[in-house]
Amino acid sequence: MLTLRSVTKRYSTLTALDGVSLDIAPGEFFGLLGPNGAGKSTLMSLAAGLRSPDSGEVLLADGALSKANLTARHTLGLVPQTIALYTDLTAEQNLRIFGQLYGLGGRDLQTRIDEALESVQLADRRHSVVQTFSGGMQRRLNLVASLLHRPKLLLCDEPTVGIDPQSRNAIFDFLEKRNREGLTIIYSTHYMEEAERLCSRIGIIDHGKILALGSLDELLTQLPFEDEIVFPETPVTATFSAQLSAHGQLDTVDGRHRFRPRPGYPLSVFFATAEQSGIATRLFEIQRPSLEAVFLHLTGRKLRD
Ligand SMILES: Nc1ncnc2c1ncn2[C@@H]1O[C@H](COP(=O)(O)OP(=O)(O)OP(=O)(O)O)[C@@H](O)[C@H]1O
Ligand SMILES: [Mg+2]
Repeated sequence: MLTLRSVTKRYSTLTALDGVSLDIAPGEFFGLLGPNGAGKSTLMSLAAGLRSPDSGEVLLADGALSKANLTARHTLGLVPQTIALYTDLTAEQNLRIFGQLYGLGGRDLQTRIDEALESVQLADRRHSVVQTFSGGMQRRLNLVASLLHRPKLLLCDEPTVGIDPQSRNAIFDFLEKRNREGLTIIYSTHYMEEAERLCSRIGIIDHGKILALGSLDELLTQLPFEDEIVFPETPVTATFSAQLSAHGQLDTVDGRHRFRPRPGYPLSVFFATAEQSGIATRLFEIQRPSLEAVFLHLTGRKLRD
């Protein structure tokens, strides 16, 4: 559907994308996970044909993507990170303008507008001006505005930043449904929970480079440990936890120990030793490591500041 081949993009001396290669298959829900300044929006603008790479190639559905190639550009929709709506116009007027930009009109456009407003629970606010909308409502309208022309590929650049949980869930449900119906989605975020929940494949991006690429399970196998065991720091656990450093990595934060056993260290030994130390099993919580751990492992930094 979309291919990037060794794409590099510079803003004067700053290299925002550094030799990025990526292949997005039809029907994928692909997550682009990275911190501020990683290059996510730059990648989105190249994928949308709004900018050209300094070197490398961006190919869309087997054709070169360029400003002149309108057919290619009509097969995609971009939900920009900054809300792009006319705030002094109503929801319906906004959608009409976006539809007309793609050459739509008449009854067909009206039907699409009705469906779009309905699909994100904004039908009853169709005649309200956008500046009276909450952040979440604006995000939902921004989202459907990019879908009126029924693109096959949707580029969503951090579409849930700064919104309430209800709007966020509405956007998740909407995107998951559209993806099930066949829409290919590239979704950038710096929330690992979003990437974990939504995306069948995730690329971790930092300083303009894709550091790792795969399904959540594949990314987790890059870690040198499998499970994390969390338990409270108490006088009873002190001696026991002191012995653990020999068998893996132990961090203690906010009164909680987090132990990442070295591969091959059997959990049965862990629990037997704990029992001998008189620690109740119910104090232990086994957690699957998260994408945050993968990011930390790859970069030495936390995803969020
Ligand atoms: N128009 C521009 N001119 C100069 N530098 C830019 C421009 N756009 C982005 N950059 C720089 O390029 C790098 C990548 O920026 P980009 O916006 O792609 O990151 P991002 O991952 O989208 O970040 P965020 O999560 O903050 O949106 C950053 O260092 C940024 O400062
Ligand atoms: Mg961005």
